Amino acid sequence: MARFGNPAPSGPVSQPNESMKFIIAVSIGVVLGYFIGVSLPAVNITKLHLPRSNIVCTEEDSPSLDTSTSGHNHSSNNRRLHSNYSLSHSSNNTRLHSNNNLEIYVSTNPRGAERLPPGMVVSESDLYQRRLWGKPSEDLHILQKYLVSFTVGLGQKKIVDAAVKKFSENFTILLFHYDGQTSEWDEFEWSKRAIHISARKQTKWWYAKRFLQPDIVAPYDYIFIWDEDLGVEHFDAEEYIKIVKKHRLEISQPGVDPSTGLTWQMTKRRRDKEVHRETEEKPGRCSDPCRPPCSSFVEIMAPVFSRDAWRCVWHMIQNDLVHGWGLDFAFRRCVESAHKTIGVVDSQWIAHRNIPSLGNQGKGKNEKAAKQGVRQRCYEEAATFGTRMADAEKAYYREMGMLPLKRQPCGP
Ligand SMILES: *[C@@H]1O[C@H](CO)[C@@H](O)[C@H](O)[C@H]1NC(C)=O
Ligand SMILES: *[C@@H]1O[C@H](CO)[C@@H](O)[C@H](O)[C@H]1NC(C)=O
Ligand SMILES: *[C@@H]1O[C@H](CO)[C@@H](O)[C@H](O)[C@H]1NC(C)=O
Ligand SMILES: *[C@@H]1O[C@H](CO)[C@@H](O)[C@H](O)[C@H]1NC(C)=O
Repeated sequence: MARFGNPAPSGPVSQPNESMKFIIAVSIGVVLGYFIGVSLPAVNITKLHLPRSNIVCTEEDSPSLDTSTSGHNHSSNNRRLHSNYSLSHSSNNTRLHSNNNLEIYVSTNPRGAERLPPGMVVSESDLYQRRLWGKPSEDLHILQKYLVSFTVGLGQKKIVDAAVKKFSENFTILLFHYDGQTSEWDEFEWSKRAIHISARKQTKWWYAKRFLQPDIVAPYDYIFIWDEDLGVEHFDAEEYIKIVKKHRLEISQPGVDPSTGLTWQMTKRRRDKEVHRETEEKPGRCSDPCRPPCSSFVEIMAPVFSRDAWRCVWHMIQNDLVHGWGLDFAFRRCVESAHKTIGVVDSQWIAHRNIPSLGNQGKGKNEKAAKQGVRQRCYEEAATFGTRMADAEKAYYREMGMLPLKRQPCGP
């Protein structure tokens, strides 16, 4: 066999050791250089937080980078953190600098986690429930790709039970309880695998903002955020997902049976279609046929979001506007080509039972007042939301020195 001039096999025994040492030394140099590099922009900020006197770091604080193999002894006895020193001298002598101030600061880490080595940062989570015993790697039999949440009160137990049963084991089930009653649901088999979150008299969007943070629901391809008063006789969630994927809908909802009354034509179920993306409205309602409520539009009662769409919508939900009114007209801002990627699925459809049950939480003669109060707040929130959006948009264009484009019908 021909030799290819690789000296390593024929060299003296000590040579690999020598070159190994060299390689390790160089690697450590590179690694230290890297950390110094990434920490540089941070020093300015860190400096502000340092006390006036020099800090003497204790041994426990010192980084545990193992340097013993390199033959270099980075004594930590003298590891003083000079607030001025590190900046002014670092550019020329990174090795010296690194010995004195070996702090991790990774500016590309998530905000607040800059001091962690990136390999230890877990910025996303899920709602999978794990066992208290055994190997963590064997905890989960199904990695659910879909999430459905219902905002419920015990009064709608039967309707909710029927609805939940339309969602297979591939769905994580999340119940938000607005009446404080949770264990009462345990008569249903599925309740034991559901996640129950209880906070009295809060709305669906209040829960969604607080418990469906995008980094927490990151593993789910689709997220259903549904009301409790939906008839699901003609609905199957797995089938629904298939259709949504096929038609590449980022935001969708099932068509609604018109027999119980409809607010918008868009969500009315069509008998001759699998999905639809536009509609005709009453005269004057649509200035642009590609904009809500004639297109790029679903309602807030039973929306389904893709992961990416939800990440945006979650940010758009205002912390103090809990009823979500106005969101539906703004969903389109969260997707590209909204008149193509927002649509209504006709072949899997639902019935809206119109029970404003959260508004019924008042008792006796308070009930009517409560209902009225809720309704009024809904309208006011819708107006506030609209104003904020318009102002924010104007402010953006002003800051960018741009004039908002005159929109073409069905334009961007
Ligand atoms: C490294 O420094 C420590 C602490 O100063 C000391 O105890 C140890 O003997 C040193 N090791 C070498 C190899 O110099
Ligand atoms: C830091 O620098 C400022 C001026 O640049 C100086 O007044 C101050 O004494 C320095 N502090 C230390 C701890 O060296
Ligand atoms: C870095 O060191 C070189 C000489 O080693 C010197 O000429 C140069 O001015 C130094 N730069 C800074 C920023 O101190
Ligand atoms: C759950 O998902 C898996 C994988 O996509 C699929 O094979 C299975 O049919 C789904 N279960 C149901 C009940 O549809």
